Amino acid sequence: MSDKTPNHFLTDMKCPMSLDEVDLFGPGAQEHWYDAYPILHEQAPVYILKGQGLAPGTDGYVLTKHEDISMVVKDPERFPPLMTEAIQEMADSGVDVEKVPNLNAMQASMVTLRPNMELWRLHKQELTDPWVGPGANRHEEMIRQHATDLIDSWIDDEEIDFIHQFARPLPQRVMASVLGFPSEDIPQLAKWGEAQVKSFVYGRGHLNQLNEEEIREQFVLLDGFKEYVQEKVIEKRKNPQDDMITFLTQVEYSPLGRKLTDLEVNGVVYAMIIGGLETTQYALEEQAQLICEHEGLFDKLKNDRSLIRQFTEEGMRMRSPTQGLSTRRTSQDEEFQGVKVPAGSVLHLRFGAANVDPDEFECPYELRLDRKAVTRHLTFSAGPRVCPGAGISRVEQQTAWSLLLDRLDGMEYGEGNDFRHQPGIMLGTLNLKLKIKKA
Ligand code: HEM
Repeated sequence: MSDKTPNHFLTDMKCPMSLDEVDLFGPGAQEHWYDAYPILHEQAPVYILKGQGLAPGTDGYVLTKHEDISMVVKDPERFPPLMTEAIQEMADSGVDVEKVPNLNAMQASMVTLRPNMELWRLHKQELTDPWVGPGANRHEEMIRQHATDLIDSWIDDEEIDFIHQFARPLPQRVMASVLGFPSEDIPQLAKWGEAQVKSFVYGRGHLNQLNEEEIREQFVLLDGFKEYVQEKVIEKRKNPQDDMITFLTQVEYSPLGRKLTDLEVNGVVYAMIIGGLETTQYALEEQAQLICEHEGLFDKLKNDRSLIRQFTEEGMRMRSPTQGLSTRRTSQDEEFQGVKVPAGSVLHLRFGAANVDPDEFECPYELRLDRKAVTRHLTFSAGPRVCPGAGISRVEQQTAWSLLLDRLDGMEYGEGNDFRHQPGIMLGTLNLKLKIKKA
């Protein structure tokens, strides 16, 4: 225990010392994920979740090796994403998606906009890439402005609440600006964002399951979101602005040869909110902790800004915001690391473990600013279904650190941090007090 970093000490659950003590999904498990990964890599690189498959009596399989996950995500025919079949069936049946119960706007829009892989690719290329993918560099100045405003609000303080005064509001403000929502609506948008990710925080087991009552509660919490976006869509159709919603109302989507309906725009916006807020927050807060834990790192980055990119990538590799997702299925009998996995099995892709796989990364638990091919981590997944928001998240992280290094002369842990992480599948501490030194 003594050689571990502080945010991996605390737990409601005992630290696993052997394979039979490993539990990635029980209460408190999030405090010991990084204690479990070396055990899994050595003894059970394919970890079987007995009886936790999609159908009763079947198993789930946790993949922890970089080579396995990399292969799976790059081959969607052999390993189809879980939702794909249901979406494809709905598309083929011509069902009215508005009438399907418990289908949110994003899922509804998938039926018409991206029911198969080819359309998935075009959806990304034509609808999201220009705003949150490779085209995200255009937002650098806007991001810089939001980050500056946040820093201005606490720069004269000695101690700050890094999450609530910086890491959390920054992506909220950035996504509101990208989409074209007014800043006064951000608190409400943040609440809707929290409701959207509820299953990833409070859902049980590797499938992040909510019970019926919780699903109903989630829909109640999201009540008003669709109408709100709908109002904005109508407003922007009448009065176009320079923002992503206006773009979505105007663009002609080539595979359909037409413009998007209001519901489809709503679905794309839903995806941007669900994906774009907490993930980047967690990346920033874990990076701040890496700085506090590595003496001299702040100064090194301050003196050589060309290292910021390498630092943020290593941060995402070592402390991946999205630790794992049960999002793929085997379409045929498979074998991973000598373990037979029958056709139709659900695969939990453990991105966090793949990113510290010693067969892929030399000294994986070391932060190395000179690591070669640093972006080969799987934090954003890879292949045709790779995270469409990786571009903007990277610009946010790099811009944030560039400004923090400009405005500060140092940061260290403040008083009273307990380093507890929120439950679920995301890696993020709940609070983070930092002592800062103004430049
Ligand atoms: C550090 C930040 C982020 C991390 C770690 C992250 C991680 C991921 C991962 C692992 C996936 C799953 C890909 C797969 O199934 O192969 C994903 C999908 C996705 N992400 Fe991100 N993401 C981040 C930021 C963002 C941002 C900023 C946005 C939006 C602007 C976003 C939007 C999405 C969407 C829409 C999907 C696809 C969901 C679907 O299957 O429809 N993400 N992301």
